[in-house]
Amino acid sequence: MNLEIRKPKIEDAESIIEHKIKVTKENPDTLATAIENQEPDLEDQINKIKNIGENDLKLVALDGDTVIGIINMFHDKRHKFRHIAQFGISVQHKYAGHGIGSKLIQEVVDFATENDNIEKLILTVFGNNDGAIKLYERFGFESEATLKDQVKLNNDSYTDLIYMSKWVK
Ligand SMILES: CC(C)(COP(=O)(O)OP(=O)(O)OC[C@H]1O[C@@H](n2cnc3c(N)ncnc32)[C@H](O)[C@@H]1OP(=O)(O)O)[C@@H](O)C(=O)NCCC(=O)NCCS
Repeated sequence: MNLEIRKPKIEDAESIIEHKIKVTKENPDTLATAIENQEPDLEDQINKIKNIGENDLKLVALDGDTVIGIINMFHDKRHKFRHIAQFGISVQHKYAGHGIGSKLIQEVVDFATENDNIEKLILTVFGNNDGAIKLYERFGFESEATLKDQVKLNNDSYTDLIYMSKWVK
């Protein structure tokens, strides 16, 4: 593996879309992605790369030129929520368990810690995603609220949605 972690470039747009399609298929019961509703659009993806805010952090993990992991942290720009940033992460199954997710989360924690606005990092995780919950706990995230049966899975069963958070200041 030739791993690189960096900010996305315009030329990564197609590979980012392919990554999103792949992880959506690989994780039918643990990920909610926009792709489940709508075909991804290249132009839209390019605009997303162009318009990353100064308090946001989007990183891609690449094996060569291929995107195999993404972390996406958005700062909440609303005045009363200006101390909050939320992130989501995905690493392709083939590359899981090699520390890539940990590297991506560490980058986000470091960025948020150094950022003048962000005080609290939050995320949501499905209650059935024990592996991810364990990983977040390792980084000091704590479960803060559980929305019961908030997620309806493809087989019509339900799982909880857990809000986890970590204060970085
Ligand atoms: C969760 C995820 C980002 C972790 O990335 P990763 O590169 O595998 O993470 P790392 O290699 O740094 O850390 C692995 C740790 O994550 C945890 N973990 C995450 N997913 C796991 C899984 N499916 N099975 C077992 N452990 C898992 C374990 O605690 C593991 O620690 P261990 O190796 O000591 O057992 C990745 O597995 C993934 O994208 N999964 C599918 C999408 C998803 O669930 N995203 C999070 C939605 S909230």
